Amino acid sequence: MPLNDLFSPLTIRGCTIRNRIFTTGHQTNLVSDGLPNDALKAYLSDRARGGAGLVIVEIAAIHETAQFNNFTILGYRDECIPGYRQLANAVHEQDCRIFGQLFHPGREVLGMNPDGTRRVTYAPSPEPHERYLHMPRAMPLGLIEEIVEGYGDTASRMKAAGLDGVEVVGSHGYLPAQFLNPRTNRRSDRYGGTEENRLRFLSDVAKGIRRKVGDEMVVGLRISGDDMNQIGLTPEESLPAIQQLSDNGLFDYFNVTAGASSTASASFHIVPSMSFDTGYLASFSAQVKSLVERPVFVAGRINQPQIADRMVAAKEADMCGMTRAMISDPEMPNKAREGRLDDIRACIGCNQACIGHIQLDAHISCIQRPETGRELGIGNIMPAPRRKRVIVVGGGPAGMKAAVVAAKRGHEVSLYERTKRLGGQVLLAQMLPGREEFGGLVTNLERELQLNQIAVHRSVEVTPDLLIREKPDTVILATGAVPHRPTLEGEEHMVDAWQVLRGEAELGGNVVVSDWRGDWVGLGVAEMLARNGHHVRLTTTCRAPGEFLQFYIRDRWAGVLHSLGVEIIPYARLFGFDDEAAYCMQTALNEPIVLDDTDSVVLCLGHTPDTNLEEALRENEYPFEVEVIGDCLAPRTAEEAILDGLVVSQSI
Ligand SMILES: Cc1cc2nc3c(=O)[nH]c(=O)nc-3n(C[C@H](O)[C@H](O)[C@H](O)COP(=O)(O)OP(=O)(O)OC[C@H]3O[C@@H](n4cnc5c(N)ncnc54)[C@H](O)[C@@H]3O)c2cc1C
Ligand SMILES: Cc1cc2nc3c(=O)[nH]c(=O)nc-3n(C[C@H](O)[C@H](O)[C@H](O)COP(=O)(O)O)c2cc1C
Ligand code: SF4
Repeated sequence: MPLNDLFSPLTIRGCTIRNRIFTTGHQTNLVSDGLPNDALKAYLSDRARGGAGLVIVEIAAIHETAQFNNFTILGYRDECIPGYRQLANAVHEQDCRIFGQLFHPGREVLGMNPDGTRRVTYAPSPEPHERYLHMPRAMPLGLIEEIVEGYGDTASRMKAAGLDGVEVVGSHGYLPAQFLNPRTNRRSDRYGGTEENRLRFLSDVAKGIRRKVGDEMVVGLRISGDDMNQIGLTPEESLPAIQQLSDNGLFDYFNVTAGASSTASASFHIVPSMSFDTGYLASFSAQVKSLVERPVFVAGRINQPQIADRMVAAKEADMCGMTRAMISDPEMPNKAREGRLDDIRACIGCNQACIGHIQLDAHISCIQRPETGRELGIGNIMPAPRRKRVIVVGGGPAGMKAAVVAAKRGHEVSLYERTKRLGGQVLLAQMLPGREEFGGLVTNLERELQLNQIAVHRSVEVTPDLLIREKPDTVILATGAVPHRPTLEGEEHMVDAWQVLRGEAELGGNVVVSDWRGDWVGLGVAEMLARNGHHVRLTTTCRAPGEFLQFYIRDRWAGVLHSLGVEIIPYARLFGFDDEAAYCMQTALNEPIVLDDTDSVVLCLGHTPDTNLEEALRENEYPFEVEVIGDCLAPRTAEEAILDGLVVSQSI
């Protein structure tokens, strides 16, 4: 079915956008010294070449008090202009439009100073920040005036660089939203108190920008309609504000979203994970559309073009932000336009390597597509100098990715999997509650195997004899891992997470789930058992369960476990179990923790590499090269497994 609505053009203030797909402003951490660079240019060019109608460049600080983290573009310095000009030229070459984000975080500052000290933060009023732990200073009037100027000056720098538009970031509880919100704005001067006064900051900002950029440039506003917590903006507050700003002609479009950084429950909506329905903000953007004449943009889990097309056709939105959809597949718009919907590598909402990396101060990527963020290096796949015969052993994520990249480079590739199904541990991962979509990773990789015409042999266990018969030049071992079962007292009465997920374990009413890695497995198994009626105590050696998960995933899961009555015992290392109690050691004090009335213990203690084939091959000299990747090299996550697949196949 052609997606006609999605691929119809839209004109805003004389700027024609070729289709309704845009990538929202999103930090990449690719910039260097606060300036746009070649890495960011390559990243954005890929999205433009892939068919997006519009790319919105990530946040730029409009004032020296506006730095969000150490990778924020310093839009308040003239030195940013040449870098922006390069971005604009590269994106325009692809017939795509480019806007830039104008940003001040107010009290919502994520990072520390580069020297490790805390920043002084400024906000309308000194209201503490629950998640980032800042007590901001109230902005004096003089600073507010400087900041208003800063928005306009930064916009004019973007204009000088050739950008088509600018967008004020008033979403997610950042400075403009802090002024709008009566719970963060307790001022008694002309910027606080009445609705009109609280809206004054945004109005001044919009007027200031227009004064500086003239009539031709598009000026939009990003705003959260609902912060989704008790202290943030509500629709009752944001909708009249949007209407007023529209009636006054101050913005050319409204880009609506949800959530804020201020509390955990609000933060999940900034980058909604697979726990949220796809396109779940459609009804809110439709509400905004019914109030304003101007175009309405929306983003939030629109991960497939069919969803976006439906939204545009139903007049729920004029433009659909599909940011992670293009982090995981920059060619998504072109594939959609050409009707190749099955070839799209849909984003699975895992949040691991996109926003997860940003929060770790690492550069953006995607677990399914490690080429993202590495466009200038390993992400650029070129033909191999010599065609080789390659055998990949193991049909988990590592093996599948290695096979695809090797085939793309022109090698003759066969993939062997000893079970009936491809996917490896991902087949277990998708069985955890609420994690079904994680299995999309396998669907996507299987499609890539097909598209690259790779010979796949299922239900075949690879042995050294098989390899000798097949005469490969290169063997890539991607044989994965098995549950780690350390020596523990009463170990024979314990079961592991894999047995539970496969339905092979009989468990009593009171279960202790013992976690070591602080990842998905302990949390997921605890949730599953609690939902099945067990009383669950979750012990973890970490400071908190899910310590190593992306914040939004971790924090939401903590809430789910709390509501299911799961008891959490941190800093606890399991050492034994008898028929009455499980025994742990408090890791800081080395004192015992006795968990009485325990019927069963489930081990979520990570994995041990499956090195059987590797060891067999090391016993003799074989006439082929051997590479080891993924969990059989070192048990980590699907992200490293897939990255290993890319790296190794780029090297052969
Ligand atoms: C319950 C659970 C939840 C998880 N959740 C996540 C998550 O949310 N995010 C994340 O990033 N990671 C997650 N992981 C970890 C992730 O799944 C693994 O890190 C990843 O699958 C490792 O990929 P791999 O290809 O190296 O190995 P595997 O996935 O283990 O695949 C190895 C494959 O090789 C096959 N094989 C072995 N020996 C042979 C042989 N001799 N011949 C033929 N085939 C052979 C195996 O049958 C298997 O299919 C989870 C793991 C589990 C168990
Ligand atoms: C890696 C990453 C960085 C982000 N940084 C920004 C940002 O700089 N400015 C912004 O307004 N939103 C930012 N966001 C939120 C996105 O703009 C977008 O609203 C969110 O990803 C939901 O859209 P999606 O489901 O299409 O990905 C970021 C999101 C991601 C994934
Ligand atoms: S890392 Fe996960 S959430 Fe992020 S773009 Fe890739 S698939 Fe989507």
